[in-house]
Amino acid sequence: MPDRRGVVLLVDDNAALVDNLAEILGEARYVVRRAGGVVAAGAEAAKGFDVALVDLRLPDGDGIELARALRANAPDAQVILLTGHASTESAAAAVRAGAFAYLVKPTPPGDLLLTVEQALHHVRLVEERRELGHRALRAEKLAAVGTLAAGLSHEIKNPLNAAALQLTVLERRLKRLPNLPPDIFEPLVLVQSEIKRLAAFLDEFLQFARPRESSSAPVDVAQLIGQVIELLRPQAVAAQLTLEADLGALPSLPADAARLRQSLVNLVLNAIEATPAGGAVRLVAAVEGDHLSVCVDDSGPGVPAAARDRIFDAFFTTKDSGNGLGLSLVHSIVQQHGGTLTLETSPAGGARFQVRLPLRP
Ligand SMILES: Nc1ncnc2c1ncn2[C@@H]1O[C@H](COP(=O)(O)OP(=O)(O)OP(=O)(O)O)[C@@H](O)[C@H]1O
Ligand SMILES: [Mg+2]
Repeated sequence: MPDRRGVVLLVDDNAALVDNLAEILGEARYVVRRAGGVVAAGAEAAKGFDVALVDLRLPDGDGIELARALRANAPDAQVILLTGHASTESAAAAVRAGAFAYLVKPTPPGDLLLTVEQALHHVRLVEERRELGHRALRAEKLAAVGTLAAGLSHEIKNPLNAAALQLTVLERRLKRLPNLPPDIFEPLVLVQSEIKRLAAFLDEFLQFARPRESSSAPVDVAQLIGQVIELLRPQAVAAQLTLEADLGALPSLPADAARLRQSLVNLVLNAIEATPAGGAVRLVAAVEGDHLSVCVDDSGPGVPAAARDRIFDAFFTTKDSGNGLGLSLVHSIVQQHGGTLTLETSPAGGARFQVRLPLRP
């Protein structure tokens, strides 16, 4: 979960009251968005919120209708209705609109915070349940992919190796012939590089089928990040991007160095591919409690909301030449390390992929 506690949307046309509520919620570390009416609330809600506090009477419409619309557009979020005076009708209407609770103004700060906290707890539970469902589905898909991959890859790899070998033989024999036109080797080089690409894909694919025994030894993370940067610097330069790291004092942690390196390479490659020329890709690593956090930030367009639920799925890609395996591989490697992989927004406005790994096994 992000560090913030949650986003609260305040919808009331009484500016003084909104100031007061915003202050109370701000002190309790909530992010507060404000709207003075129905139309403004729609625009603010589109930016995302967890809990909305909605006045029953708004200058440009009805709070109950707004509550219903907010719930319809953001089914995970909760709405708390505010009213000037308690009445059984308004309470019943609030329940019908699917409101989480109903508060009478002026609300004592303690009651307000408690109700918002309860609503937020509810929101987080629903999110967690959904995430668990997704994870189960993802695991199932990976298992299916694994079985398929095991069979297929072997069948393809052997003839592919044979073809590559024969091409080398052909190349050698051709080179012995006199007076060859200079472009004779061009198709050969092309086929060889295509075979190499196919073989690399199969290797990636096979990792699902036979996740090799992962080793665990103390890994110097700062050194590992340095290696990743050096490895991918040429790609970043070619894409006219800056690639740099911001590393605090980092301890070693128990991990499979090769797989961890591969995970970071995949994340940085994605960031490079997503970021237009002139932008930046940045790795930020720091210790957070008993975890190490490594963020791969970019200044690209970020991941569109519609794709967010799917990017960790095997074979989900928006690229012409993508396989859609990178992130799902990173996800499973990080999970094998007992860590988490999350998507956030980077300070530069692009995507932030955050890997959290336990410092101790
Ligand atoms: N940094 C990023 N910014 C924006 N979108 C991203 C970023 N990283 C990943 N994505 C989105 O997630 C999708 C899945 O990424 P993933 O690495 O799994 O596959 P891929 O990069 O498309 O293909 P592959 O990595 O197998 O070559 C991408 O196609 C892209 O739409
Ligand atoms: Mg990728």
